[in-house]
Amino acid sequence: MTNVAVIGSQWGDEGKGKVVDWLSERAHVVVRFQGGHNAGHTLVVDGVTYKLSLLPSGIVREGKLSLIGNGVVIDPAALLSEIAAVGKLGVSVTPDNLRIAENCPLILPVHRKVDQMAEAIRGKGKIGTTGRGIGPAYEDKVARRAIRVCDLADEMLLRSKIETLLVYHNALLKAANAEPMTVDEILAPLLAVAPKILSFAMPVWLLLDSLRREGKRILFEGAQGIMLDVDHGTYPYVTSSNTLAGAATVGSGMGLSGIGYVLGITKAYTTRVGSGPFPTELTDDIGAKIGKIGNEFGTVTGRARRCGWFDAVLVRQAVKIAGIHGIALTKLDVLDGFDSLKICIGYRHDGKLYDYLPASMKIQAEVEPIYEEMPGWPESTHGKRSWVDLPAQAIKYIRRIEELIECQVALLSTGPKREDTILVRDPFVD
Ligand code: GDP
Ligand code: IMO
Ligand code: MG
Repeated sequence: MTNVAVIGSQWGDEGKGKVVDWLSERAHVVVRFQGGHNAGHTLVVDGVTYKLSLLPSGIVREGKLSLIGNGVVIDPAALLSEIAAVGKLGVSVTPDNLRIAENCPLILPVHRKVDQMAEAIRGKGKIGTTGRGIGPAYEDKVARRAIRVCDLADEMLLRSKIETLLVYHNALLKAANAEPMTVDEILAPLLAVAPKILSFAMPVWLLLDSLRREGKRILFEGAQGIMLDVDHGTYPYVTSSNTLAGAATVGSGMGLSGIGYVLGITKAYTTRVGSGPFPTELTDDIGAKIGKIGNEFGTVTGRARRCGWFDAVLVRQAVKIAGIHGIALTKLDVLDGFDSLKICIGYRHDGKLYDYLPASMKIQAEVEPIYEEMPGWPESTHGKRSWVDLPAQAIKYIRRIEELIECQVALLSTGPKREDTILVRDPFVD
């Protein structure tokens, strides 16, 4: 039996949440392994829209176990308010259906402050972060001063760790003429939520090991996308975690051999939220039209997402870097009714041709896309649930994408609803 890792193959918001929700019908466990509440995963189930940031998308299904692995950075207050928000929609979250790793680093109010301050200092060169403290929290983890979930159990230790942490952050804040933070500003809210957070805490790696031995099917849910990966993305316009499938093992404590299939979620066009290079971006009416039909507004920050043509070069790069076995092609319906569609098949820069995106941020910003044009289809694909109902020209578009990215479609999504999904090849039995 194959465990599946679901990851984004572009700049995030590819529809990972929807696909994870659909696949989780046949999984026992859904695990988040990186990112934090910078993620926004939207599911539409029986007319109800769920917007999830930290909770794994399996949470909305009864009888499924959701796990938050050690690779995720947790803002305790954000987690509890998300639990309350889904509770209002009838989803009960208790230690019976949610467990979080005791070694997860915490996002603290000081991280949010430093994130926003760093963006202000960057000025025009700002990354366009979600402002939620993700980057500074990961920095603290690597610098070995993070406060982790397990630290909440010991007030003395917690206080002393916060004191050490603030020596560093207050020096930064003072240098930027910002107000320093006090130990109590950090400690008091943590102590208030500690019992609740600790009720979910455990060694997730150990639980995963026993679930695997019992033959339970495990689904790993990535956040963001390969082009936002801190190593392989459009650095420095990236997030602060690795978003590749490999991060699923590091960020959960499940061995490498535990994941058999990597499903890359791929939008039928391209979007990006925040700053940074975007070779196929459309700043004209066509881009605005895609954004309007695709409802391309960020779940987390409400920002309008930048839209552009499908970039086969980027997705092929993601397929290779992340070892993607098959893709779930999403939002095909958004392209209904366009006279013609363009696909980027290469880049030109300074008289040179590229069949990949080079690492230099200068070149990334300057490459000129080389397009191939295809006729669109006048028919609607919206909500289609069978391959035979797709217009011939839409199938040609899909086939051309498969050829260019050197990877086949395993799932096709034709609408936001759970049922608007066509299974082509089953990732669990591949
Ligand atoms: P994620 O971050 O990868 O989970 O993606 P988001 O949830 O941020 O963004 C995807 C958006 O597109 C959500 O609002 C989904 O409800 C919606 N969506 C997902 N798949 C489809 C699809 O095939 N067609 C359409 N029209 N909308 C979709
Ligand atoms: P999901 O899981 C799209 C982007 C931000 C910014 C950059 C760094 O919904 O696909 P950060 O706050 O992480 O330091 O911001 O990364 N970003 C996302 N873009 N989807 C996401 O998540 C994102 N998470 C972060 O806009 O450009
Ligand atoms: Mg999203």
